[in-house]
Amino acid sequence: MTKKTYYITTPIYYPSANLHIGNTYTTVAADALARYKRFRGYDVMFLTGTDEHGQKIQRIAEEKGVTPKAYVDEIVAGIKELWKLMDISYDRFIRTTDDYHQKAVQDIFTKLYKQGDIYKGSYEGWYCTPCEAFWTETQLNDGKCPDCGRPVEKAKEEAYFFKMSKYADQLLKYIEDHPDFIQPESRKNEMVNNFLKPGLQDLCVSRTSFNWGIPVEFDPGHVIYVWIDALSNYITALGYGNDAYNDYDRYWPADVHLIGKDILRFHTIYWPIMLMALGLELPKQVFGHGWLLVDGGKMSKSKGNVVDPVVLVNHFGVDAVRYYLLREIPFGSDGLFNNEIFIKKINSDLANDLGNLVSRTVAMVDKYFEGVIPAPTAKEETDNDLISLALKTPAEVDKAIDNLRLPEALDKIWELIGRANKYIDETTPWILARDEAKKERLGTVLYNLVEALRFVSTFIAPFLPSTSVKINEQLNIELTTWESLSAFDGTRAGTKVNKGAVIFPRIDVEAKLAEFEALKEAAIKEAEAANRPAMKPLKEEITIDDFAKLDLRIAKVLHCEPIKGAKKLLKLKVDLGGEERQVVSGIAQYYRPEDLIGKSIVLVANLKPVTLRGELSQGMILAASSDDDSKLFAVTIEGELPTGSEVR
Ligand code: ME8
Ligand code: MG
Repeated sequence: MTKKTYYITTPIYYPSANLHIGNTYTTVAADALARYKRFRGYDVMFLTGTDEHGQKIQRIAEEKGVTPKAYVDEIVAGIKELWKLMDISYDRFIRTTDDYHQKAVQDIFTKLYKQGDIYKGSYEGWYCTPCEAFWTETQLNDGKCPDCGRPVEKAKEEAYFFKMSKYADQLLKYIEDHPDFIQPESRKNEMVNNFLKPGLQDLCVSRTSFNWGIPVEFDPGHVIYVWIDALSNYITALGYGNDAYNDYDRYWPADVHLIGKDILRFHTIYWPIMLMALGLELPKQVFGHGWLLVDGGKMSKSKGNVVDPVVLVNHFGVDAVRYYLLREIPFGSDGLFNNEIFIKKINSDLANDLGNLVSRTVAMVDKYFEGVIPAPTAKEETDNDLISLALKTPAEVDKAIDNLRLPEALDKIWELIGRANKYIDETTPWILARDEAKKERLGTVLYNLVEALRFVSTFIAPFLPSTSVKINEQLNIELTTWESLSAFDGTRAGTKVNKGAVIFPRIDVEAKLAEFEALKEAAIKEAEAANRPAMKPLKEEITIDDFAKLDLRIAKVLHCEPIKGAKKLLKLKVDLGGEERQVVSGIAQYYRPEDLIGKSIVLVANLKPVTLRGELSQGMILAASSDDDSKLFAVTIEGELPTGSEVR
């Protein structure tokens, strides 16, 4: 019998310098599902990867003075490191710069063009000349370029378009016939009512204003723009249109594309339409999860609130981070990331509930039975309570997972953990231990606890893989099979437990938060330093004697007027204490003559006189200006001093 297959994908990520806790969520959730399905006997293909083309990457690489490929290579290596750190068990990693993908995408584009689904037109938008970037109206920031903040102008660019509207009715029907296709339900309605029903606009699928992309085969000035390139990854990675792999028939259609809600429209409208145009089957389900918000808002570099998963893993361990992500984002809606809630959750759910259950159980077997798991005897009412909950949990977890309700699956598992802890309170093994006559009963209680833990460690394996291993090490068992959870007797009496380290040490909340606060402040300072524009290099060093050659004096402006035919110059008469002087100064763009009259300024009084535009200038006024000369202010003094006073 061939195994049932399960094909799950994450989005392919933009190689930005840091993947944050939000992107990590999608991948951790997909990993938990993939591990779960493998455990349940499916033949799983778990795909992730990177979306490496586009203008933005090209520009960053140019700024860094490296090729776009060299730039993405480095970032992608970092992303793979992160997935290793997060225990992500992907089966395949696709990069849109992989040769096989590029060739297949070119073929897809050409096919769609030849059959008339793609046509050449022109793309109208806003152009930022210095950035060489096209922007749509909605991308602009206060009418300015969202990247550099400079003004933009209307411009046209030749581009290819995909006739989306041609397939709209067919897609609408498909969505109606397949109620599970878009999940959760609320988002389906949004897609149908806000996008499909009002009528689809054709999608721009090529660009000419940059070249870091897959070239259009039959029109090499164009590169394929974003979505045809990116979305195709889900089939090219299986070998569609290429010889690199041969898994298309085995895994397509995908069981689920797991994505964030921001890219749901691309996955539930454009992608299905592309597939329809290619005559291919549609994925069985697209699930748009909510956002992970940081203290009520979106994470952004400028707000300095980007949560770095690497930092969290280094402080709390990978499973604590996985646990929080999987339990805290409610099905289909947004979740919150907050250090305090996170740490408290580690203490309550992981250190207290799970950690204590493990250490108490193992410690009692160690203490009362020399570490050897005793055999069970007659059951009591309270035993049956624990056992029946354990035995019904697999079906509950299964159901939650089938509906992609990960937090609910964990709720069910933690119910069992809670029940086992309560069982310890009810049976009071430390009291049983005082009475030799109750040794048998004590043995049954401890056996049941170990067996309950075996269930727990099996359930958590897909979610918290290394914790499951740690528990099994202490219980001295291998990871058991799902099938063995149909009876509450899988633990072998006589096995010797290994008392080990505490699996989740309690965290001092206040101290840890203070430590994080300090880290955050240091990070903000560092970011500020990195953003500060480079200072102009200083001139050659001088000595105090060099400086002493300058004779700087306070002078008062008595009179000031423009010079005919010289837009930048003003002619001033100043009082220098013992004499009056005429000075010509290039400050007409910054001061009206009347603004200067009466001001005390600083004059370089021993400067050799020159004639400018036929006017004698005896000295120079000191002024400070911005690098781009957009602003200039004459140097003045704060208080009153007699004219002619020295500046030194
Ligand atoms: O969109 N909380 O890539 P991407 C939860 N390359 N999820 C978040 C999140 C947050 N705070 N921030 C981002 C792209 N995500 C395209 C995809 S697929 C063919 C092409 C999620 O790196 C986001 O919703 O910008 C998306 O699902 C994923 O991270 C990748 O985002
Ligand atoms: Mg995005």
